[in-house]
Amino acid sequence: MPNPEPKHASSQAVHGRPGDPCVFVIFGATGDLTKRLLIPSLYNLLVNKLLPDKFAIIGVSNVKMSSEDFRKQLGDEIGQFTTTKVKPELWKWFDQRITYMSGDFKDPATYTSLKTTLESVDKAHGSSGNALFYTAVSPSFFGEIVKQLAAAGLTKETDGHWRRVIIEKPFGHDLESANALNREIGACLDENQIYRIDHYLGKETVQNILAFRFANGIFEPLWNNNYIDHVQITVAETVGVEHRGAFYEATGALRDMVPNHILALVSLTAMEPPISFESEPVRDEKTKVLRAIRLLKPEDVPKWAVRGQYGPGTLEGKPVPGYREEPQVDPKSGTETYVALKLAIDNWRWSGVPFYLRTGKRMANRVTEIAIRFKTPPMLGFRRTGVSHIKQNELVMHLQPNEGISLSFNAKVPGPVVRLGGVDMNFKYADYFGAAPSIGYETLLLDCMIGDPTLFQRADTVDAGWRVVDPILDAWKATPASDFPNYAAGSWGPSAADDLLKHDGHKWRLNS
Ligand code: BG6
Repeated sequence: MPNPEPKHASSQAVHGRPGDPCVFVIFGATGDLTKRLLIPSLYNLLVNKLLPDKFAIIGVSNVKMSSEDFRKQLGDEIGQFTTTKVKPELWKWFDQRITYMSGDFKDPATYTSLKTTLESVDKAHGSSGNALFYTAVSPSFFGEIVKQLAAAGLTKETDGHWRRVIIEKPFGHDLESANALNREIGACLDENQIYRIDHYLGKETVQNILAFRFANGIFEPLWNNNYIDHVQITVAETVGVEHRGAFYEATGALRDMVPNHILALVSLTAMEPPISFESEPVRDEKTKVLRAIRLLKPEDVPKWAVRGQYGPGTLEGKPVPGYREEPQVDPKSGTETYVALKLAIDNWRWSGVPFYLRTGKRMANRVTEIAIRFKTPPMLGFRRTGVSHIKQNELVMHLQPNEGISLSFNAKVPGPVVRLGGVDMNFKYADYFGAAPSIGYETLLLDCMIGDPTLFQRADTVDAGWRVVDPILDAWKATPASDFPNYAAGSWGPSAADDLLKHDGHKWRLNS
């Protein structure tokens, strides 16, 4: 039974410290990310008293517009994207701190005028010379913007002030381009000025994986190959590619989801306990476990990786088109919208424990979860009873949408005959902590303003992630899929993904 009252008010009562005084400069200020996620998240920080008093925003984009028009546009739209009703007095505070300037990201003159604008905004708002630059732009501009910022002297940290740059995803499109980008930005910035963002790390439930594993005494002793049979990570979406056909055609599910979001989930699930929860020990362990993932040889890719593309189907009772019928998609497209992988982690803890991962668009349900399947007891002692087979215990971290953790185990079914039945223990976030409305970027933006990079990807983490993905990209490029589309929209993906597990005697948890 859910508790009628929240048991703890901790999610509301405990606040961190506000960010340092700073100017938040957004490249790509007229884009979707800014209006849907960045501004609403900053607004939520303000609501929770986590924005510094000495704060201002400069929006930069190539659209010609006055600051007044930009402020009006944001003000008109903010209500659609915040998680609570916008309070006019808070928005007024926010609005007074917004400046806009137009400019071409490739033109050095843009950065000269940004420097002047930044100096005057900084003076007006007393933000101590600190500045955070957010690249909410197409990835082709990431390196360019950093180089231009550096050339204009905007990334220099002198007189005790800081300058940081948040780089959006995707960080490269393969190992080589990710490393080239690392080198390019690394030539202009110190690693501690670079914040490579992955919005999955902003999710409370994702951060909770560490708390769950390392703040409890009872789970960690079981968290290894002595007790765990295998792990299943599912990131299933019901949405299609929406208006992002052009981007998705060149990206595909593997690049879009695996080197970043899914490997972040793998690393938090599989990493060793860090020596402390400071940023570097945590990031060291996350990277170390990614490096232990066995890299696939080209001939193994078909056995360990499955790709899929959705065809027409039905979702929530409505017919939906196939991927090839989506806007800006090639009618003969070979881009995958689904991927399932089996990974082996070659280290002491995980040797012999397969990690099965899958993600796809237009799947039967929206669900992100990590399921830990435990081994059965070493022997079945129920002699002279009908019990010959028992279900494996399963611990599931439900990351979204119904956030919580559940544990399933076997219990005796009441009655004179020994019979076992599977039962569940269920923890739901909402029952204990109430609904905590957040966009998901709040923690990440605040951490950057505070200077805590724990939840951001380091250069070597990015490198380790792409090393896992690259052999699969290469193999798939060399042999285009001949069976696309191979799953219907609204289903659980291609049958080859079921075979991937069946081969090892397993089954995907959710497929009915
Ligand atoms: C983005 C991908 O990074 O993550 C999208 O580019 C995907 O394709 C999205 O839909 C999923 O994020 P979330 O938070 O909805 O699980």
